[in-house]
Amino acid sequence: MQMLKEAILQKGRAINQDVLLVDSFLNHQVDVRLMREVGETFARRFQEGAFTRVVTIESSGIAPAAFTALALGLPLVVMKKQTSKIMTGDLLETTVRSFTKGTQYQLTVKREFLGEGDRVLLIDDFLASGEAAFGVLNLASQAGATVGGIGIVIEKAFQPGRKRLEDAGMDVYSLARVKSMTKDHIEFVDD
Ligand code: G4P
Repeated sequence: MQMLKEAILQKGRAINQDVLLVDSFLNHQVDVRLMREVGETFARRFQEGAFTRVVTIESSGIAPAAFTALALGLPLVVMKKQTSKIMTGDLLETTVRSFTKGTQYQLTVKREFLGEGDRVLLIDDFLASGEAAFGVLNLASQAGATVGGIGIVIEKAFQPGRKRLEDAGMDVYSLARVKSMTKDHIEFVDD
């Protein structure tokens, strides 16, 4: 997606070979016009998928997933990384480890928002090792739902997430696939 690649080249910054900072348009300040294009692009790609829900993980996946859900006319379910006293009832949970951030969290969703027969479109901001996506696959399986597609805004193609998800039978579609990066150069897979 050209508009996204231009934003990455103009406003993104590789802090090292592994981590791309995009907090001026995706992770902190959000370019909603760009996110609307992102959502509409995902919706065109996945419109024949017979999805019943769009799912994402808080927090940076919410903007692209919301515009995707709006364009597809579907509900959006945000999986939680932090629970609280008011999050009660029948909860589904799984542990997700983040290699990039060196942390782990309990990914949680209320059973009432993900159920038997649901067909899920997962939208997320980054794909690295695929751990977050496997967390969603786990919760979907616990709920009796299936994940029928995965839309990623920025894929780090030099990390193993795509291969692991494809090996698990997933349809993975990324809008920008970063092949490699250094402090002053970012290269995409199709360039
Ligand atoms: P994985 O799910 O594909 O295995 O990814 P990993 O655990 O390595 O990273 C998970 C978290 O790190 C996610 O944020 C993801 O967005 C973020 N992340 C991964 N690679 C990059 C990168 O190159 N740049 C930036 N900016 N973020 C990256 P999160 O913990 O879910 O946080 P958030 O959604 O609240 O922002």
